[in-house]
Amino acid sequence: MIQPPNTNNETDGRSDHIFERIVTDINTKGYSINQAALPSALGNKLAQYLNTISGDDFDHAGIGRDLEVKRDELVRGDEICWITGESDAGKDWLHWIAEMQLYINRGLFLGLFSFESHFSHYATGDFYRRHYDAFKGQANRVLSMVVYLNSDWTQEDGGELVLYTNSNDVEGITVTPSFGTVVVFLSEDFPHEVLTTHRDRYSIAGWFRINSSTNDRADPPS
Ligand code: OGA
Ligand code: MN
Repeated sequence: MIQPPNTNNETDGRSDHIFERIVTDINTKGYSINQAALPSALGNKLAQYLNTISGDDFDHAGIGRDLEVKRDELVRGDEICWITGESDAGKDWLHWIAEMQLYINRGLFLGLFSFESHFSHYATGDFYRRHYDAFKGQANRVLSMVVYLNSDWTQEDGGELVLYTNSNDVEGITVTPSFGTVVVFLSEDFPHEVLTTHRDRYSIAGWFRINSSTNDRADPPS
């Protein structure tokens, strides 16, 4: 499916316009794809910070919600590093997210109350097979978001995100992981995958959550 992505034409550094569009998109179709939507100052700061994080700070990503997160290279090969407010870049990121969350809560009534996110590094040859970020009934991950930090991505580089519009969709919508692109979608409704990358690929994956009263255990990444 080919469709023109949204673009952020803002010059004043505020993202209200993009946040409004995300709300409208989620309301009408459940997902939102926005090119050059991350404020460039924030994107540069995050990319710089990423450069200072050593490989040791990245952990191999696991699958599933069990406390014993197992590594499964048949499903995903990326390494992750959780983002906290301890770094300057992390603070700015979480501030931008908090602004977005206000818009989303006003416009969507999803009752989002928290957010978690991590950097992902996919090395050459890595991928993440088709999956959901949350499952109906047990989900407190409501809204997924992915932001890309790769300059000059070309078609030969591979590593596209493919977002499927429902469980039967085999074609999907292909997203190039270019710097500043912001993708948001309802976690329970959109299976998606990362195609094999042919160069180092950096993204931030984040999830807005609602409170889950039945959840009495720690929620490891899935
Ligand atoms: C994930 C994910 C997509 C991407 O981490 O759950 O689907 O494009 N990431 O990095
Ligand atoms: Mn995912």
